[in-house]
Amino acid sequence: MSALKLGVLVSGSGSNLQVILDHCSNGTLPAVVSVVISDKTDAFALQRAEEAGVAGVRIDRKDFDSAEGYNQRIAEVLKEHHVELVVMAGYMRLLGKEVLGAFPNRVLNLHPALLPSFPGAHGISDALFYGVKVTGVTVHFANEVFDEGPIILQEAIPVEDDDDEDSLSEKIHAVEHRVLPEVIRLYAEGRLKIDGRRVLVLSGE
Ligand code: GRF
Repeated sequence: MSALKLGVLVSGSGSNLQVILDHCSNGTLPAVVSVVISDKTDAFALQRAEEAGVAGVRIDRKDFDSAEGYNQRIAEVLKEHHVELVVMAGYMRLLGKEVLGAFPNRVLNLHPALLPSFPGAHGISDALFYGVKVTGVTVHFANEVFDEGPIILQEAIPVEDDDDEDSLSEKIHAVEHRVLPEVIRLYAEGRLKIDGRRVLVLSGE
């Protein structure tokens, strides 16, 4: 099986990007990160890309007159790097139809809550302040609505009485670091079948 070419979109620290890079380089994921795109010039994720010898591209929304132009540029860069699967790993913007249309059913998003609960940019703190006893991690196919596309995998995480935002973030990140590479692997192996809003995971045999 040839390595699946990934384009990873980031906005921040990039700990999930790092896990993907590590899996790719040590051969535990049949994939390669072809390009990392950040909307934030100072994202630490870009430094991680550089250290891994992967192309890192800054695409700043402020440099474009319109969201369409901005998203068009993202799609161009992904295509220039022959990307086959786009992974939003802490990319904090809504992805435009210019990208989604160019990569139909080929964009993953990672969300730090059990969707459809607590969508948006503050999934961890929103769940904590609401007082839920269980939250978790969702990986789903992205569509044109924020945090709404078909769900591929979810894992629940209990919220303990003494959890605060930091401790809960730590637990959520630990799960994300395990499940995001797992979903990429399932995709690479051709084992994800979208059936309406449901995503079926086909057996590996
Ligand atoms: C993750 O918790 C992800 O679910 C959310 O942003 C965070 C990114 O973390 N969308 P990192 O940049 O990968 O460390």
